[in-house]
Amino acid sequence: MMEKKPILSPPPPQHQSSWLFYIVQWRLAVLTTFVFLGMLVVWRIDDCKVRCFVDAWRPKQDFAPMSVPPKQIDRWGWSPPDLIVIHQNETPIYPGSPSNATQVSVSLPSAAVNLTGDFSVLGSPNPQNWTSDEVSWVSTQLGPDFSLNLLARWLAPGGEPCRESKTEQITIPGLDGQELIELSAGKVHEFPFMALDSSGNPRCLGGDYYEADLSGESWKSRPLVKDFGNGSYSISLQVHPDFTGDYNLTIILLYRHFEGLKFSPPRFVIDRQLRSIRIRFQRSQAVLPELHYCKSSDFSRDVWVGRWTRHGKNEDCNIGHDGRYRCLAPDFPCQVPWCNGSLGALESNGWVYSAHCSFRLFSSDPAWNCLKNRWIFFWGDSNHVDTIRNILNFILGHPEIPAVPRRFDLNFTNPHDPSQSVRITSIFNGHSNMTMNYEGLDSLKNAAFQNLLKKYFSEDTVPDTIIMNSGLHDGVHFHNIRGFTSAAKYTASFWTDVMESVRRRRLKLPRIFYRTTVATGGYARSLGFNPSKMEAFNGIAIDQLRQAGLLSGVIDNFDMTFPWHYDNRCNDGVHYGRAPEKKRWRDGEIGHQYFVDLMLAHVLLNLLCSR
Ligand SMILES: *[C@@H]1O[C@H](CO)[C@@H](O)[C@H](O)[C@H]1NC(C)=O
Ligand SMILES: *[C@@H]1O[C@H](CO)[C@@H](O)[C@H](O)[C@H]1NC(C)=O
Ligand SMILES: *[C@@H]1O[C@H](CO)[C@@H](O)[C@H](O)[C@H]1NC(C)=O
Ligand SMILES: *[C@@H]1O[C@H](CO)[C@@H](O)[C@H](O)[C@H]1NC(C)=O
Ligand SMILES: *[C@@H]1O[C@H](CO)[C@@H](O)[C@H](O)[C@H]1NC(C)=O
Ligand SMILES: *[C@@H]1O[C@H](CO)[C@@H](O)[C@H](O)[C@H]1NC(C)=O
Ligand SMILES: *[C@@H]1O[C@H](CO)[C@@H](O)[C@H](O)[C@H]1NC(C)=O
Ligand SMILES: *[C@@H]1O[C@H](CO)[C@@H](O)[C@H](O)[C@H]1NC(C)=O
Repeated sequence: MMEKKPILSPPPPQHQSSWLFYIVQWRLAVLTTFVFLGMLVVWRIDDCKVRCFVDAWRPKQDFAPMSVPPKQIDRWGWSPPDLIVIHQNETPIYPGSPSNATQVSVSLPSAAVNLTGDFSVLGSPNPQNWTSDEVSWVSTQLGPDFSLNLLARWLAPGGEPCRESKTEQITIPGLDGQELIELSAGKVHEFPFMALDSSGNPRCLGGDYYEADLSGESWKSRPLVKDFGNGSYSISLQVHPDFTGDYNLTIILLYRHFEGLKFSPPRFVIDRQLRSIRIRFQRSQAVLPELHYCKSSDFSRDVWVGRWTRHGKNEDCNIGHDGRYRCLAPDFPCQVPWCNGSLGALESNGWVYSAHCSFRLFSSDPAWNCLKNRWIFFWGDSNHVDTIRNILNFILGHPEIPAVPRRFDLNFTNPHDPSQSVRITSIFNGHSNMTMNYEGLDSLKNAAFQNLLKKYFSEDTVPDTIIMNSGLHDGVHFHNIRGFTSAAKYTASFWTDVMESVRRRRLKLPRIFYRTTVATGGYARSLGFNPSKMEAFNGIAIDQLRQAGLLSGVIDNFDMTFPWHYDNRCNDGVHYGRAPEKKRWRDGEIGHQYFVDLMLAHVLLNLLCSR
C-alpha cells in the first residue's frame, strides 16, 4: 500500500533535536515490528493525509484544503510519537498524599453492589422502591473534581499482590453460566462483575477499560460500566419496553489499569472479547418516563447515556454513485418520541440517536430561520471541518461546497432567501500552524495563535455561540493526563480572559459548549488517541472549563459515536463525517456512511436553536 512510504525514510523534522531523531531511526531499524504500528499511526487525523491515502482509489482530488505543498504535511506523517519509546516509566507526579490518592471518588452514584444481580438502582435508591414499576433512564455524571480524582485513581499505589496482578478475565455472577438471560425491558439491570488475574483471583485495583455493547435488531447502546476502584465493576443494562427481543451483550477488555492513557498505548492494548452473552428483553409493567424533545437546559448534562434506535430499514439499500445512502424516502417520518422530522433525510437507513431527550431533525427552512443573523464560532479538530461541511451540504442547501478549510471566517446565505445569512468562523486547534498536527491544546502556547483567536472577540460584535472540542491531537501530544490537565487549565484561563474582555466592553457574552471528541474506531482503538484516552480527556476538558465557569453545556459526541466505533464501517478511525464518496474505505470495503456525523450536525442545530 502506498501510505507506507513516508514513514520509512523520513527527513528529520527541523525543530526536533537530532538525538530524538536517532532514537527513532534506531528503533525503526531494529524493531521492524514497529513498522507495522507505524502503518497504523500514519493513518492520521490530518485532513490532507486521509485524502492522500484515499487518492489511491480516486481519479482526482476535488479539493485541496489548503495551499501547502503535500510534502510538508507528509513530513509530519512520519513522526508518530507512538514509535518513540522513551517514556517507559511514565509516572506522573501527583501533588497529594498517597493515602488520599487511594480514595476513589468515582464519577458515579455509589450504588450498593447486590451480588444477586437483577435489581434496579437508579432513580430509586430506597430499597422499598426497588419493586416499583416506575423506573428511570440509566444516567451518570462526571462528578466533582474529575481531573484530580482520575489522577488519584491512576496513581493508586500497588503493593499487595491483588493490586499488582494483571486482569486476564472477569466474573459476572448474575450473567455467567446461563445459555440465555431473560430480563425485563424498561428496568435498569445492574450486574456487578470482578476483574480476575491469571489464577482466577480477584483483583483489588480498578482502572481497566472495558468496552461494552448492547445490540439488538433496532437498538444499539453502550451499557454504563462503573468502576468502583477496587477490582469491582458493574454494568447496567436497559432497553426501552418498545424494543423487546433478542440482544447480544459484548464486553471487551481494551486496556488494563489506565494503560490506554499512556503515551504509547499500542504496547499495552489487549482488545480481548471477554463475553458475548445472549439476552432476551421481555415485556414488563415497567413504565419509563417518555423522552421529550431537547430543550436548552438538557444540554447542561456532562455525560450522556443515549442509544441509537431504528425505525425503518431497506434491506436492499446500496450506495449511490455519489456516495450517498438514500435508503428510505427523504420524507420517511420520525417516530415519536425518538426524533422529530424526516428520518429519511439522515440517510442512516433508519437509525437515529437519542439521549436523555430526543432531537429534532432539521430541514432547510427551520434551520435558516434559527441560524439567520447568528455568528457561530468553532474551535476544534478536523471533525468540526466535516460537521460544518455536512451542515452546509445536507441541511442548509449548499451541496456545491465540497469542503471548508481548517481556518475560515465566512458568511453563508440561504440560497432560497438571500436576506438570510449566517456567519461561521472555524479555527483548527490541532496545531497553532494550521498545516500541522498533534499539538492540541498546547497550540495556545503560541502567541500569534492566541491573537488570532482574540481578534474575533475584539470587534463590535462577537460570536453568539462557541463550539469547542479537542482531544485527538492532544492524545498524541501529551505524555500523560497530568500534562493534558495543565493544558486544559490553561485553556480555561485563556478563554476566561477572552470572555472578560467581552464583558468589559458590555457585549453579550457568547455561550460556550464543549462537543466531546469521538470514540475513535477500529484500528485507532490501540493508538495515542484511543477511546479510553479520549473519554478521559473529554472529562478533564469539561471539568476544567466547568470549574472556570465557562461552560453553558455539553454535546456528548463520544456517546453518540461509541456504538459505531468497533470497526471502520462508519468512520476512518478518527472521523465519522467524511464527505460521501463511493470508494473503498479504511477496511477495504466499499462505502463510508456519514450519518453519525450528520446526526451530530442535527444535535448541534438542536442546541443552537433551543430555548
Ligand atoms: C487529604 O487531602 C486533604 C486536602 O485535599 C487534606 O486536608 C488531608 O489532610 C489529606 N489527608 C491525608 C491523610 O493526607
Ligand atoms: C439483593 O436483591 C434481592 C432481590 O433482587 C433483594 O431481595 C435483596 O434484599 C438484595 N440484597 C441487598 C443486600 O440489597
Ligand atoms: C418511592 O419513590 C417515590 C417516587 O418515585 C417517592 O415519592 C417515594 O417517597 C419513595 N418511597 C420511599 C419509601 O422512599
Ligand atoms: C448476535 O450475535 C450473533 C452471532 O454473532 C448474530 O448471529 C446475531 O445476529 C446477533 N443478534 C443480534 C440481535 O444482533
Ligand atoms: C468495592 O467497592 C464497592 C463500592 O465502594 C463495595 O460495595 C464493594 O464491596 C467493594 N468490593 C470489594 C471486593 O471490596
Ligand atoms: C415536531 O417539531 C415541530 C416543530 O417544533 C412541532 O411543531 C411538532 O409538534 C413536533 N412534533 C411532535 C410530534 O412533537
Ligand atoms: C459577514 O457579515 C458580517 C455582518 O454582516 C460582516 O460584519 C462581516 O464582515 C462579514 N464577513 C465576511 C467574511 O464577509
Ligand atoms: C507552518 O508550517 C509550514 C510547514 O512546516 C511552514 O512552511 C510555515 O512557514 C508555517 N507557518 C507559520 C506561520 O509558522
